[in-house]
Order: sequence, then structure tokens, then C-alpha cells
Amino acid sequence: MADRIAEEKIDRIRQTVDIVEIISDYVQLKKQGRNYFGLCPFHGESTPSFSVSPDKQIFHCFGCGAGGNVFSFLMELEGISFQEAAIKLASKVNIDLEINLSAAHGEKKVSKEFQAMHDAHELLQKFYHHLLVNTKEGQHALEYLLERGFTRESIDKFQIGYSLNSWDFVYKFLSKRDFSPEWLEKAGLIIRRERDGNYFDRFRDRIMFPIHDRNGKTIAFSGRSLGHDEPKYLNSPETAIFNKSKILYNYHLARPSIKKMQHAVLFEGFADCIAADRSGVENGIATMGTSLTDEHIALLRQSVQSVTICYDSDKAGIEAAFRAGNHLNNAGFQIKVAMMADGLDPDEYIKKKGPEKFRNEVIGASLTWMAFKFLYFRRGKNLQIEGDRLAYIEVIIKEISKLDKAVERDHYLRQLAAEFSLSLDALNQQQKQMFFAEKRASAGKKEPVNKPVLIAKQVNKLKPAHITAERRLIAHMLKNRDVAYKVQDLLAGQMFNNDEHQAIITYLLGFYEEHEEPDSSAFLTYIQDGNLRRMVANIEMMSINDELSNQELTDYIKQVLNYPKLLKIKEKEVELKEAELQGEFSRAAEIGNEINQLRKSL
Ligand code: GTP
Ligand code: MN
Repeated sequence: MADRIAEEKIDRIRQTVDIVEIISDYVQLKKQGRNYFGLCPFHGESTPSFSVSPDKQIFHCFGCGAGGNVFSFLMELEGISFQEAAIKLASKVNIDLEINLSAAHGEKKVSKEFQAMHDAHELLQKFYHHLLVNTKEGQHALEYLLERGFTRESIDKFQIGYSLNSWDFVYKFLSKRDFSPEWLEKAGLIIRRERDGNYFDRFRDRIMFPIHDRNGKTIAFSGRSLGHDEPKYLNSPETAIFNKSKILYNYHLARPSIKKMQHAVLFEGFADCIAADRSGVENGIATMGTSLTDEHIALLRQSVQSVTICYDSDKAGIEAAFRAGNHLNNAGFQIKVAMMADGLDPDEYIKKKGPEKFRNEVIGASLTWMAFKFLYFRRGKNLQIEGDRLAYIEVIIKEISKLDKAVERDHYLRQLAAEFSLSLDALNQQQKQMFFAEKRASAGKKEPVNKPVLIAKQVNKLKPAHITAERRLIAHMLKNRDVAYKVQDLLAGQMFNNDEHQAIITYLLGFYEEHEEPDSSAFLTYIQDGNLRRMVANIEMMSINDELSNQELTDYIKQVLNYPKLLKIKEKEVELKEAELQGEFSRAAEIGNEINQLRKSL
């Protein structure tokens, strides 16, 4: 088949693409020495332990152990195959792969069926949109939207549509185009009736909002009822291509603006998100009616660290904003909270007061996270009453205790002192007491998980000498082909003590048979096993001297060769003890001799 990507094309991609540039699309990287650091996109953390080496064109996370080259980065992060990663990278740097793309996709049966799901959604999106804007059947829906303040421009931009009031329109429309009912059902577009096995459409007589993935592919719909039919919003079910807890509405359109402004605005509903966009707030995203998950946060973190929460200003909305804010705060985000008067939601506010007021008096005037908490804890309390007042002051001091920066603590304590005419000294003292009480209380609990760098460093320190020696040898072998062969000679047929290490050098020597020069990134592609790849990326990131002196080399080799002997000595020592206990003195003497021989050979 002419559809495999040629080896030299893969090499071209590897040589042309810059890993720092590619990863920067997903992780905010800061240069530190030769390498770049950022928050790992593969696990939740608030201190950066994810590093990228431009020299070696590889990445590695000291926290979770993820590691590899630019291909494996995309494969793992986006859950795509090697070939898909190659296609993606090639298009970024304008390398023509000279393969038949559709045939390449067809190689795997599964991805062909995924493709069908995507195609069905794409086709339906177009058709729903057409029904809404061009047909008599969709006219009442269009009028409803325009009445609500949607503009023609945003109806086009968000590809909003209308589903006919029919039981089997979609089923017939797509079946005629060779989509199998079985897969349409799996895609959540039609439903099979148990009773007679007949299929009928999921969405009928609803305003259709297409849901897109991060690449802009349509993967689901949410249909809003026109009248008061329940449910108000009907979503596609979870499918192979749609997982609500991972999707942020409008992420694909908002991303450039989020990255440019280094800021995102988070909404509760997509009507809000669309209304905000119309008002010039283009960095808005929304969850799909669920609360904010770890996956959402991991996705957000790929573009931004600062978020304004703009939820409904009713009771439920404020509670939800408090939860989302805590979640984001724990993940290390800078947070603001935008509030609207009279319990309005953003969409209603914009319709009532206009875009300008929304931008300036809502988004522009959003509260800091701490100021929001002041407000939050005040609700339902009557501060004229002493009991309520004391309870309020106590929670606020507790919140202030959580702040890391002394300047901030001081700022809010002063604010509190001024508001309630209290002595700053007394507040300071109480805050310190609370801080230490919290600390003692949490000392019994498990280690916080947000210090992976330190933990990883300690783990590295605790590695036994022979393991460290093997890792250092591998690090030098990866850098220098001659050293690799030299080590092989010096080992004289003995293996590395760690099986994975042995596997790595076996791969490496194979690689050097085919390649004249060391190449970290190319070597990672050469290794088939993901676990070994992560291990190699970890070793690559160790700092070692440029040159390996003879002294150093023989020391390491000695460590490697001695380890099995040390094990043997330990074994013999146990035997010796036993022999002595049994009173077998001549055997004991014999074993003693063997131990001496082994010691001498070290
Ligand atoms: P409008 O009433 O059209 O202005 O919508 P809204 O965005 O104001 O809705 P609301 O604040 O009630 O809900 C916010 C989000 O929750 C919506 O965008 C939906 O994602 C989700 N949601 C609301 N109602 C339902 C429902 O009945 N079913 C499901 N699955 N989700 C819903
Ligand atoms: Mn609304």
C-alpha cells in the first residue's frame, strides 16, 4: 500500500518541527537555563515539573514520569495514532506526505467508524443550519432566536440550527447517504425503540447548538426546546467521540483570543457564551451543564492560568461559582468573579443593559477571588447581630490564613480591621493562631500532592548506587556512540542489573547500527515501548558532564559488575550464620573462604 508514511518523511518532520513550539500550543512554557518548564498537561499540579529540552527535542515530567518526543506528546495528549500525529505535524510545517489521506485513515477500522460519526455530525450541522436560516419550517425558530437577541452573525458563527418536528427525518436523511443505523445510534443521533426495533430521531423541533471538540470537529449537539417542553436542553449522550466532562463549549473558537489575552471567561450556559461573544467578549467558554471537572481544568491550563468566572448571579449560580473558584484556585489559577445585579444571568443582562455595560461594569469590574469570598460568606448573615458578626470575622480570618503572600494577608486583615473597628494586632494574632492550628490538624493527613518536583528529586536521591551508575552510563551512551560501544566491551557480556536498563541499551545499540550520530528524539521513535520511552526521557533530562573521564567510566562499570557479587556475598553471609548456629564449623570455614574470595574480587 502506498499509504504508509515514508521513513524519510518522518525524519524530515522530526528535523523541521520544533518541540518547544508545538508544546507551547498546549502548555505555557518558561525558559530556565537550557530547558523550558511548565505545568504538566498529563497530571494535575500547581508547581511546574514538566520540562522540555530544545537541544534534545524531548519532554519529560518529573512529577508523573510522562516523557517522549514530539510525536509521543501529541499521541498521548490527543489520544491519536502515530500516523495521525505525523499528519498533524506535517501540515504544520508544510511537508507534503504524498499519501492518500483518506486511505491512511481507513487503515484502522475503528478510525473509519469514528470518521463516519464525525461526518454524520458535520452533515447534520450544515443541514440543521440551513433549515433554520433558509426554510419556512425553521422560521418560527429563527424568530425565537432573534427575539432573544441572537444576531444573524452569531447564528452563523456558532452554526446554530433547527431540527424538524419529525420522527424519522434524520434517520432517513443519513441512511440514504450510506450511514449505517447502528453507527448513527452509537453517535447518539437516532434512538432504537426496544418494542419494534424501529429507529427514530433524538432531536425534534429544537434549536440545535452544535458542540465542537478542541480541533473544531462537530461531535455532539445540544437542542433547546422552543416552548416549555422538558427538558429545556437535550444533549447528545456520551459517545465514543463526546465526553461532557472533557468538553468546554466554544473552546476551539475562543482559544486564539484566550491565548492572546492570557485570560478566559467561564460561563455556565452556552446562551451566555454566545451573548458575550456578540458583546465583544470572545474569550468565553462554558461547561455543558456539569460542574467543572479536573479534565476541564487540565484543558484550560493548556492555554491560560487566569480565569474570570461569570455565572448566574442567583443563589445557585453563586454557590456554583464558589465551587468552581475553589477548584481553579487549588489548581493554581488566578481567579476573578464577575457579578450582575438582580440575580440576572449574563445573557439576560446583555439583552437588558447592552454590550458596553456588560464589558465594563460586569467583566471589567469583576471581583478578586478574596473579595468574592468576603461577599459569599456575608450572605444570609446579619452583621448587625454580634453572633453573626463574630462568625463572619472568623471565617474570613480562616480564608486569609490560606493566602501564601504576607502582603496579601496584611492587606485583607487591615480591610477587616477597618470595617469592624478592630485592632489590627488582635486580628494578626488570631490569624497566626489559626494558621498553626490548621497546620497541626493537617500534619496528620497525607502529603499534599502538589510538590512532585521535590518528591521526584528525593526518590532519585534514594536510588541504590548500581542503579545510579547504570543510569549515568546510559546517559553518556545516549550522547556518544563511541561510549556506547566502549561500555559494551567493558561489560564483557554481563548485563545491566536492571531489566529495563538492559532493554534500553539493547535498543540503543540497535539504533547505532543504523544511525551514525546520536539523536535523542529519533531514538525515542525507535523505541516501541511507552514505558521505556518515558524512562529514556527521564535519563536524558539528568544533568551529566559533557565528557566522560576514564576514571568515571571505570567507577560506573565497577558498580555495575560488583552488584551481583555483593548480592552473592549477602547470600553467603546468611549461609555462614546458619552453619555456625548448626555447629557445622568446617562448612562455616569454607563459606568464610568463599566470602573472602568474593570480597577480594570487588
Ligand atoms: P436559556 O434559558 O436558553 O437562556 O439557557 P441558560 O443558558 O440560561 O440555561 P441555564 O442557566 O438554565 O443552564 C445553564 C446550562 O445548563 C445550559 O447551557 C445547559 O448546558 C445546562 N442545562 C440547562 N437546562 C438543562 C436541561 O434541562 N438538561 C440538560 N442536560 N442541561 C441543561
Ligand atoms: Mn439564560
